Amino acid sequence: MLLGLLLAPLLASGTSCPVFNCSSSAATSGQCITYTNTTGVDNYLVTPCVAGLYCGFESKASSTCKYPTDYMPRYPGEYCFDALDCHSGTCLNGKCSGISSGNPCNMTYECNPKLYCDSISDKCEALLNIGNACTDTSQCSNSVCDSLVCTAYFSKANGQPATEISPQGLAWACKTGFAKGGLCAAPPVSPPTKVVTNCTAGEVCKDQNGVSNKTCTCSYNGKAYCPLFEGDTQVQAMITGIQTILPYNINCHTLNRFSYECFVASANTTITSDYVTWAANAQLYLNNQWVLQHTSQICVNETLQASYLNIVNQSEGKIQQCPVYTETNYTEGWTANMCIFATDDIYYSNLMTTFQAKPSVCGTSQYCNAIVTTAATSSYCTPIAVRYPGDNCTVGTQCSSNNCTNNICTGAAFNQTCRVLSDCNPGYYCNTTGSVCIAAVPQGGVCSSSLYCQANLTCNLGICIPFYSVKLNGPVEAVSGEHGFSLACTTGFAVYNSTTKNTTCKTAPKSKSVNAKCTPGQLCKDSSGVYSKMCQCGTNGVAYCPTFEGDSAATKMISYHKKIIAYQSNCNTVVIDQWCYNKSSTIYKYYNNYVAYQNEYENAPLLVDSRDSFIGNLYFSVYWAAYDQIDHSSSFGASLALSIVSFVAFNI
Ligand SMILES: *[C@@H]1O[C@H](CO)[C@@H](O)[C@H](O)[C@H]1NC(C)=O
Ligand SMILES: *[C@@H]1O[C@H](CO)[C@@H](O)[C@H](O)[C@H]1NC(C)=O
Ligand SMILES: *[C@@H]1O[C@H](CO)[C@@H](O)[C@H](O)[C@H]1NC(C)=O
Ligand SMILES: *[C@@H]1O[C@H](CO)[C@@H](O)[C@H](O)[C@H]1NC(C)=O
Ligand SMILES: *[C@@H]1O[C@H](CO)[C@@H](O)[C@H](O)[C@H]1NC(C)=O
Ligand SMILES: *[C@@H]1O[C@H](CO)[C@@H](O)[C@H](O)[C@H]1NC(C)=O
Ligand SMILES: *[C@@H]1O[C@H](CO)[C@@H](O)[C@H](O)[C@H]1NC(C)=O
Ligand SMILES: *[C@@H]1O[C@H](CO)[C@@H](O)[C@H](O)[C@H]1NC(C)=O
Ligand SMILES: *[C@@H]1O[C@H](CO)[C@@H](O)[C@H](O)[C@H]1NC(C)=O
Ligand SMILES: *[C@@H]1O[C@H](CO)[C@@H](O)[C@H](O)[C@H]1NC(C)=O
Ligand SMILES: *[C@@H]1O[C@H](CO)[C@@H](O)[C@H](O)[C@H]1NC(C)=O
Ligand SMILES: *[C@@H]1O[C@H](CO)[C@@H](O)[C@H](O)[C@H]1NC(C)=O
Repeated sequence: MLLGLLLAPLLASGTSCPVFNCSSSAATSGQCITYTNTTGVDNYLVTPCVAGLYCGFESKASSTCKYPTDYMPRYPGEYCFDALDCHSGTCLNGKCSGISSGNPCNMTYECNPKLYCDSISDKCEALLNIGNACTDTSQCSNSVCDSLVCTAYFSKANGQPATEISPQGLAWACKTGFAKGGLCAAPPVSPPTKVVTNCTAGEVCKDQNGVSNKTCTCSYNGKAYCPLFEGDTQVQAMITGIQTILPYNINCHTLNRFSYECFVASANTTITSDYVTWAANAQLYLNNQWVLQHTSQICVNETLQASYLNIVNQSEGKIQQCPVYTETNYTEGWTANMCIFATDDIYYSNLMTTFQAKPSVCGTSQYCNAIVTTAATSSYCTPIAVRYPGDNCTVGTQCSSNNCTNNICTGAAFNQTCRVLSDCNPGYYCNTTGSVCIAAVPQGGVCSSSLYCQANLTCNLGICIPFYSVKLNGPVEAVSGEHGFSLACTTGFAVYNSTTKNTTCKTAPKSKSVNAKCTPGQLCKDSSGVYSKMCQCGTNGVAYCPTFEGDSAATKMISYHKKIIAYQSNCNTVVIDQWCYNKSSTIYKYYNNYVAYQNEYENAPLLVDSRDSFIGNLYFSVYWAAYDQIDHSSSFGASLALSIVSFVAFNI
């Protein structure tokens, strides 16, 4: 196999090409192609699979959606996400691994790259170098078995014998890529007028000189076209261009030596980019994309042509780089309690991350704890959060203490026995060593974590201090990253100095323009150009610059936070949640504002377009619930928003 995906040929019935039509719903659940031939013409009704699933095409048959690896388990040396991706069942450091040199084998596909299964020794042995005797190209290292000798690609002069001819007519050993009568020869070219000329399926297409011929073949649009001839510029460019990819090629499995799955396993953007540039052009001839690209239907582009178009888009630097979030009913391979299945995998020659969510899997006593990550991390159904001492309640079963007295969850009092940190009434926490409730640390007291400070204080450099109390240039705890939000600073912003190794409060930076589009992997600078944050993908597939700490979302978050701090003395010292604040309608309103602006500050890019989408509501239901409770004339509002990732509050 020369390219990762060799397409099943489109066979014409007589002179008519098969017909492809798009359908928004599949005939049978999970079916992506429904085949019929009642009229005597092959008819394919196409419904693209959800992202993350793959639709194989078989001539004269219906097809179902499957994980890519169900169709094409990968060879040693090729990219893998887990063991199931590999023929060998072993995935090591992102590459399938197989049998190593000198060990017993039955088939070449079992051996590691640079090896083949020798039929005499029945062991994996080193591939043969150029000049050695061979019987099959799979034995030759980076070369082709021609005239029973491993021969460099496209190296023989005209007149020399050539035996290794591809089904398309490519002579792999000839400098010209073409042989006639068993000898390398000058290649035929298409007639100058032809280029994209349609023809009648099955009839003959002649070259410029009328000597050589090829068969007119069908595209997906119901018409037929002449394929490329070996002398055409595209084929000649493929021949000369192969030199750029041969250096990495030795790391690919000998049976699949020009596959995307191998080159992307290099994890090197230069190597992958050289490959896609070559492959986009090579497929015109080797996979007959010259003909097949004449298609216009979106369902064909998204399924039958998706691999090719992804290669082309990558070669032009235009590929989707954000994870794809979709709703699905397909849960094969999901583990218990999973509500969002995440994978990194290759879909149609595109390495991407997908998050597939199934509606309503968690029932009523649990919720889908949808975690926003850039890595492929699945999410699980989680019991709806219990309430803690200090929270609002109606019955004891809502409370971790199982005691609801006067509509407040009641926990252990001072010096009473307790088990976990949050077991005690407001103002106290559980000393888990002594197993009794002790007073939370007051302002100025020593702390190792904010968990031990009174609920209205934060632990800064070992001392409990009021929130937002350290002045400009004052020292504070490390923030996440080089600079970021600080609960201790009056400005809400602190910067790490790599020379002094100290973190100090600074004036909060502002965005150049809020919610500007950006390229994943690149940095977004603030308006001063001093600070930067990573461009972030939304759930809508578009990437945006995150907000900075001086933007209105963060400043409003802080102002609402200040309005609820005093009330926190009525809340659990360790976990502060909505059930503490909703005891007072005024405070609850401030709290909802706080939650909404906190989400807009932390997750602005993810909130775009999330209001009415299933995915948006799944990830950001907390945001949207808070958003609906507030006066949002000045919030990002309908265009934005985001999620508090858990119900547990912010002071941890
Ligand atoms: C029509 O399709 C059926 C399968 O659906 C197949 O068995 C049959 O051979 C097809 N007929 C032609 C003429 O292709
Ligand atoms: C080769 O095939 C035989 C018979 O199927 C099997 O017993 C043996 O384990 C195979 N060897 C390897 C290395 O897979
Ligand atoms: C080629 O395309 C033209 C325009 O679409 C059409 O009229 C003509 O019949 C086609 N010729 C063949 C041989 O299919
Ligand atoms: C096409 O070319 C081959 C070999 O060059 C020849 O055998 C065959 O007869 C030709 N077919 C037509 C229809 O010209
Ligand atoms: C990527 O591959 C290129 C070409 O082989 C090489 O020059 C470069 O050092 C590689 N980059 C990394 C990060 O390995
Ligand atoms: C499908 O892809 C082809 C290129 O192969 C392009 O010309 C065509 O516009 C695309 N169709 C749609 C609906 O995007
Ligand atoms: C999942 O199944 C339900 C019920 O059969 C259906 O209403 C819904 O459209 C399906 N969703 C997807 C994404 O297929
Ligand atoms: C619940 O807490 C109250 C107040 O501390 C206490 O009087 C009562 O006995 C507790 N109830 C139970 C069932 O523990
Ligand atoms: C805590 O309770 C123990 C007995 O349960 C008692 O001896 C001790 O004096 C109490 N400590 C305080 C500070 O009240
Ligand atoms: C927690 O309890 C242990 C054992 O009684 C005691 O030694 C320790 O001082 C207590 N810690 C605090 C912070 O009171
Ligand atoms: C924090 O709350 C305590 C009561 O638990 C109160 O005495 C104290 O004044 C408050 N401190 C600040 C800075 O609000
Ligand atoms: C919480 O408490 C307040 C005041 O006690 C009450 O009005 C409200 O209905 C309660 N809310 C919930 C959701 O329990």
